[in-house]
Amino acid sequence: MNKEEAKVRIAELSKIIESHNYNYYILAQPTISDYDFDMLLNELISLEQQYPEFITADSPTQRVGGDITKEFQTVKHRYPMLSLSNSYNIEEVKDFITRIKKTIEEDVEFVCELKFDGISISLTYENGLFVKAVTRGDGTQGDDVTTNVKTIRTIPLRLKGDYPDFFEMRGEIIMPHSSFNAINAERADLGQQTFANPRNAAAGTIKLQDSKEVARRKLDQYCYFMMMDDDKMIFKNHYESLMAARQWGFNVSNFMALCKNVEEIEEFINYWDEKRKELPFDIDGIVIKVNDFQQRETLGFTAKSPRWAIAYKFKAEEAHTQLLSVDFQVGRHGTVTPVANLSPVQLAGTIVKRATLHNADFIEQLDLHYDDIVSVEKGGEIIPKITAVDLNHRKDGSQKVTFITHCPECGTQLVNIEGETAWYCPNTLGCPPQIKGRIEHFISRKAMNIESLGEGKVEVLFDNNLIKDYSDLYNLKYNDIFGLEKIITVEDENSQEKSIRKVSFKEKTANNIIDAIEKSKSVPFARVLFALGIKYVGETTAKLIAKAMGSIDNIINASVEELTDIEEVGEKIAISIKDFFADERNINIINKLKEAGLQFEQEKKDTAKVFMSFGNQQIISNDQLSGMSIVVSGVFSTMSRDEIKQLIEDLGGKNVSSISSKTTFVVAGDKMGPEKRKKAESLGIEIKSEEEFLEMIKGQQTTDNGQQTLSTESTSGVQGVLEFDF
Ligand code: IVH
Repeated sequence: MNKEEAKVRIAELSKIIESHNYNYYILAQPTISDYDFDMLLNELISLEQQYPEFITADSPTQRVGGDITKEFQTVKHRYPMLSLSNSYNIEEVKDFITRIKKTIEEDVEFVCELKFDGISISLTYENGLFVKAVTRGDGTQGDDVTTNVKTIRTIPLRLKGDYPDFFEMRGEIIMPHSSFNAINAERADLGQQTFANPRNAAAGTIKLQDSKEVARRKLDQYCYFMMMDDDKMIFKNHYESLMAARQWGFNVSNFMALCKNVEEIEEFINYWDEKRKELPFDIDGIVIKVNDFQQRETLGFTAKSPRWAIAYKFKAEEAHTQLLSVDFQVGRHGTVTPVANLSPVQLAGTIVKRATLHNADFIEQLDLHYDDIVSVEKGGEIIPKITAVDLNHRKDGSQKVTFITHCPECGTQLVNIEGETAWYCPNTLGCPPQIKGRIEHFISRKAMNIESLGEGKVEVLFDNNLIKDYSDLYNLKYNDIFGLEKIITVEDENSQEKSIRKVSFKEKTANNIIDAIEKSKSVPFARVLFALGIKYVGETTAKLIAKAMGSIDNIINASVEELTDIEEVGEKIAISIKDFFADERNINIINKLKEAGLQFEQEKKDTAKVFMSFGNQQIISNDQLSGMSIVVSGVFSTMSRDEIKQLIEDLGGKNVSSISSKTTFVVAGDKMGPEKRKKAESLGIEIKSEEEFLEMIKGQQTTDNGQQTLSTESTSGVQGVLEFDF
């Protein structure tokens, strides 16, 4: 066979083998014996060995694995990977439908799907070829696990039929029971720790460095969501898009239903709650999605999840055991949480020894006594919880469990905030677990990312009087920490197994810590704000506050009203912020952090002017939309909806998803949702067309005035012209 013939045969073999893969793994209808399949694969392997220049990225030989990933690259998601809000009973599903009906008057059709219990993945396809697989990560960025994902046979490397040039497929990587049982049996044999459940096993496997081992563990994948730029979306609804995806070669579950009302949805839920035991993989619920894309657009999103979908979680598995004792743990905000110590019991693949009792009211409602036989539930990642007491087995004279009155750590009398169920230790700045908890939060990855200080090291520094609050971290010197060591007890989250570990600050560790602390000085303001650990101010809220207020001083001086004007900030959060800064001790800590050089102001965008060209339009980046709340709706011709939204942000405006009296104006493209239009009209909110909007933000200058220009991409991903004008 000459070189040309080899090239043709390699392409031919790739096609034949992939179609057999499809028949075998997706259709479960093999049309060839295993022996014949292996012969074809061997022929391809040997030809590729002879002519490595003809190995393509989508060759079936790539599925066998072999490449090593030293470090997974972090990749920003083109479209954020959101999660779903959960419901636990049919009443909550009814509420979800009622909320939808408030916004949409026409009939709404729902797609019910299995909720696969694995790890979500985003697959990118360009011109029909699989190019990238990224894990969910924090929703905005994840890890590039392409090499490992290629080994999953149900993920097509090359598509068939009439697919779009560019799109993403979202789905779940799962570990089927057969693979899970085989791996755990093998690990037990080797004396290695077994995986607690298939989801953990799938998560651990996809992050292995050796793709050959990933291939060996036989993961599987199901697709449930197609993403592309709004103006490129060729389908009218979700169901249609999934049916097309199936034609292109994706693994789309057969177990889906189109439902018109809650009765049909309930029927689907009940059927699968029973039948799930017969599936060859785990599901932990049902996902209910609005089918029509235009209705989805009208419904929009909250900060974390779409308003057009909800997950129904199946009731967790249950076991019965005896209550031995109760511990009271103090969290970083001072909340005291009762934790039950139980007689060890097997539950959903793990041995449970401890379970949360939530708060004093919960203990009271259960009328819990020591030695009681209790029901314990565990579902997915949730910490086991006690759900009921078996009164028939209560011992005579057993003692009632009562809540403590004083902090078990510092002895301070506990307080109860009106309207809240929790008891707190008010000794915020003097109670050791609160101080350590706050410092641990401060150094965490999403906050200041001083992770080299994790795993018990904060405790060692605190016990040695080297840090009394997080600002002390910035005074630490190498010589203060080098040589420190301590034996600590750690508990494994999964197995609840306690083990003893030695924490020591050797030369490399001490250097890494000092370096990481130094580096943290450039962490952006939003993350610093999150790191401060203000009650109720999570990652997303911190971002919104930082953007709206611009600096820590503006936040310190803001009124509750000014704070509640910020998107997602309600009175509870605003009051918590005010309380935090009202404490002189917190102001002192912030002053020390300022002195250390942390970022307490929102990063300014490049002072260079950005000119973006759309046809003959020129747009100058400035703050001309500052203070405006803008709703973008419909399909646009010059750019995608996401690009318009980015442009609004770049020009200082705020994107809001629903129209209210606070909306400044609406930018409407084609097919703007009729409900949105009606609402805008009834509130007298101006509706601008795409042209009117572009006209409004258009600059007076043009780029043909002889200034130096450089063709580039704007932050919104819009092809444009970047002009430096210093
Ligand atoms: S749709 C915009 N459909 O459940 C949200 N998710 O919190 C798109 N999941 O992270 C997700 N089965 O990992 C969707 N049929 C299904 C699913 C599903 C499992 C997972 C997914 C997501 C989580 C929801």
